[in-house]
Amino acid sequence: MKGIILAAGKGTRLYPITLPVAKPLLPVYDKPLIYYSLATLMQAGIRDILIIVPPGEIGMFENLFGTGADLGIRIEYIEQFVPKGIADAFILGADFIGDDSVCLALGDNIFFGPGFRQKLRTIAKSLVSGAMIFGYYVSDPRSFGVVEFDKEGKAISIEEKPQNPKSNYIVPGLYFYDNQVVDIAAGIQPSARGELEITAVNNVYLEKGELLVTTLGQQYSWFDVGTADRLYNAASEIRAVQRSGKLIACLEEIAIRSHWISLDQLRETANKMKQTPYGQYLRGIVYDLEDEV
Ligand code: G1P
Repeated sequence: MKGIILAAGKGTRLYPITLPVAKPLLPVYDKPLIYYSLATLMQAGIRDILIIVPPGEIGMFENLFGTGADLGIRIEYIEQFVPKGIADAFILGADFIGDDSVCLALGDNIFFGPGFRQKLRTIAKSLVSGAMIFGYYVSDPRSFGVVEFDKEGKAISIEEKPQNPKSNYIVPGLYFYDNQVVDIAAGIQPSARGELEITAVNNVYLEKGELLVTTLGQQYSWFDVGTADRLYNAASEIRAVQRSGKLIACLEEIAIRSHWISLDQLRETANKMKQTPYGQYLRGIVYDLEDEV
């Protein structure tokens, strides 16, 4: 399975913060926002990743991740010149996806919680055909995609930002698809707001009876950090959770636990960042693993 991170939004709802810097590079407490989406894909076991970035910004993202080798993964970058909507990711990414299945993570969505890695791995491994999305309960779902589903998790309806939502389950920005998604995305029409909606893609799967929904319970945290308040709330919750001593979205930790990088590679990154709590945390992992040897 391939992974795509759509990180090409201009972040106009965050102006003036995003005037000089792309939204995915903004800090969310102690790491750039895009770390969280990359962590999500890596936790799903995905090592082949395309990052879709704003025009002219490839260099900034390359400074951060390079080829991905330090994380034991392979990263490609592509620019989205015109913001055509989320489903454009599958048009821009068609060659990258090839004959594979694909997981799309929106660059401004953050997920964490107990057992999330296991949940993601199970879904990524079990997706043979069709599509798999999540449903997350919120009190006011009107500014998101909203899904209604039956006891078996089969979607009954899905709507984008409905005025009168049919359920309280929103669809967060993490989607698993079989290879049909490439053709489906190429065939949809722009919505009233002029975008190739991900909800339109999901509706095609729904009509085929191939759209499944996994409930993401309240033990999981989910944030769409499109606005300054949400960015702030996410950062403050991450800070609070990390006080337990465990970091959220520590990419090198995911990589070493997945056996994608060597202890030497981890040591090198840890030393580079040894002045920060993030680097110290990596050094802690190195010491633990040295003890095990
Ligand atoms: C987009 C999707 C929506 C989804 C949301 C998750 O909304 O269109 O279906 O629920 O991301 O963050 P937008 O970012 O366009 O408001």
